[in-house]
Amino acid sequence: MKNLLEVEDLRVEYRGRPIVGGVSFSLGKGESLGLAGESGCGKTTTALSLMKMLPDGLKQSGGITLRPEGLEEAINIGKRTEAGMQVVRWRHVSLVFQGAMNSLDPVKHIDSQIAEVIRLHEKGVSSGEVSDRIADLLTTVGLTPALGKRYPHQLSGGQRQRVMIALALACRPSLVVADEPTTALDVVNQAQVLELLERLREELGLSLILISHDLGVLAETCDRIAVMYAGRIVETGTVEAVFSNPQHPYTKRLLDSLPVIGGERGLAPPIPGAPPDPGNPPKGCSFHPRCPYSTDRCLIEPEAREIAAGHVAACHFSPWASWPELESSGLAVES
Ligand SMILES: Nc1ncnc2c1ncn2[C@@H]1O[C@H](COP(=O)(O)OP(=O)(O)O)[C@@H](O)[C@H]1O
Ligand SMILES: [Mg+2]
Repeated sequence: MKNLLEVEDLRVEYRGRPIVGGVSFSLGKGESLGLAGESGCGKTTTALSLMKMLPDGLKQSGGITLRPEGLEEAINIGKRTEAGMQVVRWRHVSLVFQGAMNSLDPVKHIDSQIAEVIRLHEKGVSSGEVSDRIADLLTTVGLTPALGKRYPHQLSGGQRQRVMIALALACRPSLVVADEPTTALDVVNQAQVLELLERLREELGLSLILISHDLGVLAETCDRIAVMYAGRIVETGTVEAVFSNPQHPYTKRLLDSLPVIGGERGLAPPIPGAPPDPGNPPKGCSFHPRCPYSTDRCLIEPEAREIAAGHVAACHFSPWASWPELESSGLAVES
């Protein structure tokens, strides 16, 4: 079976400088992919590119092909014009924006905001059907339909985020991209929203791209993970493979900085140094200035290579049989 989504060499530039520097990945029907990486590495830009919704000044190129079930022909998002995208957005692929739960229209009932999305994208739906669908959608995301009569400020943060997910599902897309959907929530609501996404994926056969700077969040919800650094994917693989056998030093450092349940209290050590500006990345491997294992070889850009079936890393020294012990303060980082 062909994949639902194929992204090939996606690039985004701002004034000739790369923000996303050639990203490729695919997603099967019903599969969930987690996109991880520190703030500023290009996750949101990648998400917006999939919908062709980049802000003015950012230019995208590269192949994006979507094959929703039931459509004869694949949708070539990469080549679609703005007019052509209007029938694709929300209908076939939708996005739960980063921080969007705070951008619901404050003066409109939840019901009417959902109705607007349905009417905008599907012509000739009767009022009765719209009401039924709104009630269904609210139930699906774990809200009682009566909440539809409320204004956004009358809902909790967790409830508002559920409304955002209902909006993303309103036109029954096959792909939902959720950009940091739990970051603004407390721990209990975070867990509930993640469970909701997981359940929707199973019940609706949805494919999901979940974006988070928190690898722990992705581990719980996703089948596969793509780790992004400075506008590129440095490692992809199943959650199990990446967590048990990371093959890029950046992934390894991210995993080491995850808090361990039942482990010592206190903050986990951050990765020393700062992530580079994707528009002005260091020569060679972008991670080399922060990498404790880097050598002169890293001044040449490493190619992404498959280390095991479906497990790909862009590091000259992978496969890493084991990770050399580091002296706690002896990192080879020059500040
Ligand atoms: N509208 C824009 N104009 C110029 N640069 C931008 C714009 N949006 C994002 N960037 C730059 O692109 C990079 C990636 O940003 P973003 O995709 O938001 O990262 P992430 O979501 O991983 O935190 C950042 O360095 C940011 O400064
Ligand atoms: Mg972001």
